[in-house]
Amino acid sequence: MPITSEDRAHAQDLLNFIDASPSPWHAVDTITQRLQAQGFVPLQEKLRWKLESGKGYYVVRGASLITFMIGQQPLTDTGFRMIGAHTDSPGLRLKTNAAHASDGVVRLGVEIYGGPILATFTDRDLSLAGRVNVRTAQGFESYLINFRQPLLRLPNLAIHMNKDVNEQGLKLNKQTELPLLFGIADDTLSAREQFLNLLADELKVKAADILTYELNVCDTQAGAFWGVEQEFIANSQLDNLASCHAALTALLATSAPAATCIAAFFDHEEVGSESTAGAGGSFAGDVIERISLWMGLDDEQQHCAAAHSFFISADMAHAYQPNFPNAYEPNHHVMVNAGPVIKTNSNQRYSTDADTAARFITLCESAGVPYQNYTHRTDLGCGSTIGPVVAASLGIASVDVGSPMWAMHSLRESAGVQDVAYMIKVMKATFGS
Ligand code: CO
Repeated sequence: MPITSEDRAHAQDLLNFIDASPSPWHAVDTITQRLQAQGFVPLQEKLRWKLESGKGYYVVRGASLITFMIGQQPLTDTGFRMIGAHTDSPGLRLKTNAAHASDGVVRLGVEIYGGPILATFTDRDLSLAGRVNVRTAQGFESYLINFRQPLLRLPNLAIHMNKDVNEQGLKLNKQTELPLLFGIADDTLSAREQFLNLLADELKVKAADILTYELNVCDTQAGAFWGVEQEFIANSQLDNLASCHAALTALLATSAPAATCIAAFFDHEEVGSESTAGAGGSFAGDVIERISLWMGLDDEQQHCAAAHSFFISADMAHAYQPNFPNAYEPNHHVMVNAGPVIKTNSNQRYSTDADTAARFITLCESAGVPYQNYTHRTDLGCGSTIGPVVAASLGIASVDVGSPMWAMHSLRESAGVQDVAYMIKVMKATFGS
């Protein structure tokens, strides 16, 4: 199928969405801005909610956000149409006392967050983005920070000192060989002062007032199209901001739905989802319960609503890379630009079962979208998603799907232009079902 101008516009919008979201806190901020632009109303967890039929709302907890639109039909008849994705990506995070000087060089110590391909962080124009808490008269205030320009680097060892690198692969000691080069040591300032001054100058606050930070190491290179027809895209964090973008775009294109529609964006998927804000926490259940209470459902009616509900766990899928044929299950090659992938694992690493897969296939068919099936090789361990966690805690029928991509967990991942629009279309059909 040829790439339409609408396909390309969606893919460009995804690249812009990712470029504006170099950390999970920024992803929540980007989502918030798009929701506010369409009149979605912010709700505070600390305050009583007042909801109106047909209106859109959102709630933020940490670097997670849940947004919903109240449906026209009774919840006990329709249940929820819910799509979930994750805001975090694997990578490097600064340690608490990150800055240190040795051998005349200032370096920043990092922890490994989740399972990144570490070699992809070498020789790239890295920077920092995240949040900083600054002391105020009342306590503290949280600031988003995003330097945008290159600040840090992990230079490779020259091949002259690492002669077997092309045969052995790049091996990095996680404690001693990952600290990022940041500057030349200063005789008059400590490494910590140099670093805190940089944060303070950027935020226009006093260095002495900086209390805490959570900073993600990010790539400064903008998203790009590539390929003979420019049919592919490359960017960091396609896993899983591409799914966040699709769910958000589909919800923003939905009006007056019959069922109450929810798009849930969770932090901490890459580290197991067990946190206050993560999919393994109470956030989704709390929001669903508060919507149900506001609609006057009693306990038993809430169970009826759950039984009518459908949840799509959207996370990226492994596209076939022909240079590595032995890495894939030979009967489950999924191709880029060939549509959403239904992910199945009988050990419930994915939440899909035959019923929920069938339901997703009918949604694809109603939206005119092709689909593909993926199962991992039997002799390789399979990854997981928020799907099984959310399905188990909410008791809602769930399916795991995702757009095909290459180089999952690389700092520079790639995917297909048409798959962006395909996923948005089937998600729109889900919210409209
Ligand atoms: Co993912």
